[in-house]
Amino acid sequence: MHIIINNLSKTIKGRVVLDDIRLEMQSGRIYGFRGINGSGKTMLMRAICGLIRPSSGTIEIDGAVLGKDLSFPKSVGALIENPAFISKYTGLENLRLLAMIRGVATKQELKDTLTSVGLDPMDKRSYKKYSLGMRQRLGIAAACIENPELILLDEPFNALDESGIDGIRDLILKKKGEGALLIVACHDTQELISMADEVIEMYEGKITKCYEVKHDESA
Ligand SMILES: Nc1ncnc2c1ncn2[C@@H]1O[C@H](COP(=O)(O)OP(=O)(O)OP(=O)(O)O)[C@@H](O)[C@H]1O
Ligand SMILES: [Mg+2]
Repeated sequence: MHIIINNLSKTIKGRVVLDDIRLEMQSGRIYGFRGINGSGKTMLMRAICGLIRPSSGTIEIDGAVLGKDLSFPKSVGALIENPAFISKYTGLENLRLLAMIRGVATKQELKDTLTSVGLDPMDKRSYKKYSLGMRQRLGIAAACIENPELILLDEPFNALDESGIDGIRDLILKKKGEGALLIVACHDTQELISMADEVIEMYEGKITKCYEVKHDESA
């Protein structure tokens, strides 16, 4: 997958929330976004998912223009801000419901996805009894079912305990290894730099800095 963002701007009620964004991203890499509250990270993720339309500029995914040639990226999973699930269903039931939309994942794959985020597939508790961190883990599982080519995770480490952070970091790196294109926003700079291949800094809707991170593969 190859994403090209050309001069993307978004104005909402007279306020410029994305300002002339230019960026290229490709499969097998992790793009880490950082920036202060309100700098535009979530808005940019929404635009890449096709959830908001640009005021000007384009987002091209493998040559197809979002909002013109296609409404949403073909193969995408996203956790953007608060995950929403059906409160009376268990984690597994919620994932099964989501997977029914495309019908690709087997029950075993759904269970494995839950295990990969540290949730017990046999847990009989309904979603309304989930703790904050458990909800976050289920949101990440939902973003990863059916191995999407594009995965967007907005603050994936929110509310996670230490083992949760370790597990999700491993999962993100595993998805990269499988060839996914990952877009991750995170306020923990050290965490972000440790995972990302490229760090993109935003401020007032603009990209202010963009740099490659060299990882010592032997470490
Ligand atoms: N639903 C909305 N309607 C209008 N403006 C919005 C809406 N959501 C966010 N904004 C504005 O868009 C700008 C960018 O917000 P965004 O949520 O992308 O920031 P962010 O970088 O994700 O911040 P945070 O670190 O707090 O998550 C801000 O000025 C914000 O006020
Ligand atoms: Mg945000």
